[in-house]
Amino acid sequence: MTDRLPEIDTHSGVETTGHEWDGIKELNNPLPRWWRFVFWASVVVAVIYWILMPAWPALPGMQGHTTGVLGQSDRADVAGEVSAARAARAALGAKLAAQDAASILKDPELSQLALGLGESAFGDNCATCHGAGGRGAKGYPQLSDDVWLWGGSLDAIEQTVKFGIRSGHAQAHVKDMPAFGRDDFLTAAQIDDLVQLVRQASHQTADATAAIRARPVYDANCASCHGDDMRGDRTQGAPNLTDEEWLYGGDAPSIRRTIFGPRGGVMPAWTDRLDPATVRALAIYVHSMGGGE
Ligand code: HEC
Ligand code: HEC
Repeated sequence: MTDRLPEIDTHSGVETTGHEWDGIKELNNPLPRWWRFVFWASVVVAVIYWILMPAWPALPGMQGHTTGVLGQSDRADVAGEVSAARAARAALGAKLAAQDAASILKDPELSQLALGLGESAFGDNCATCHGAGGRGAKGYPQLSDDVWLWGGSLDAIEQTVKFGIRSGHAQAHVKDMPAFGRDDFLTAAQIDDLVQLVRQASHQTADATAAIRARPVYDANCASCHGDDMRGDRTQGAPNLTDEEWLYGGDAPSIRRTIFGPRGGVMPAWTDRLDPATVRALAIYVHSMGGGE
């Protein structure tokens, strides 16, 4: 800065700062009154805020931060909300676990809750094998159709979900188809004939003579599980062989492979992994997918 006398701009009567560019001089106008008001007001608000609310980190070597005289804490708020939600969930769970699935379905509010809980639990635990919406995949049955291995009533579904199929749980569904080819119960020629019989029964192109040859072999080896009419047996988890729904495929190589050695699909038991309310909600959800009985 220079030590010259302040210069007054003749045009506006305001003192200049002494800065000048090509004859344009900078005026030293005072800050507007409103601006200074806002500035000091924000300083005051900031100080009040520091006193009331958590604001400053602690000094080096100390823990935490200034807590503020209001004791406000987002962490405590969230913890409170979480425990309130838990309590609400536990109450819902107790209701679902206390009533059987059929009476839950009669109560519109409860069944709505069960379907919501079931849908999200299905996405978390079941969709990896059974596909989104239960559409199934090879070896993993479609759950949204009305074809059932072990039964599609609410109770049957809940039973399957609880204990599984070949899961190792003591109460699981277990029934293994014998390994007719691998264990030499049948010859390759007999198995080829049986493939034709199964294709004929399921309304696919088949060698009729071979199918006739296979019939006595079927009656002796297969009918005890799949039934005289080949429509399967739910008490043994034996699929219907006359429909178009296949667990492992209805083409000749797939059928031959199934008869050669059993597939033995494993469905895990969920009773030790999910609470009773969730298992019940899952049964209700699966039942609602389209094939419930
Ligand atoms: C690891 C894969 C796997 C997972 C995960 C799984 N399942 Fe299964 N599930 C299977 C298989 C395989 C079968 C068929 C077993 C067979 O061949 O008899 C099956 C069968 C079923 C059946 C019987 C269908 C019928 O036709 O009788 C139901 C119901 C079922 N699963 C529901 C569920 C639900 C609900 C869940 C989630 C809690 C679930 N599954 C998770 C593999 C799985
Ligand atoms: C002890 C009972 C039992 C006997 C006997 C039996 N099966 Fe099975 N079969 C089953 C079961 C259980 C399944 C399905 C479960 C699995 O293995 O995942 C099945 C599955 C099948 C499938 C697969 C169906 C599909 O949807 O993919 C075919 C085909 C089949 N059996 C044909 C036969 C033929 C042919 C015989 C006689 C040579 C026979 N089974 C004897 C129990 C039996």
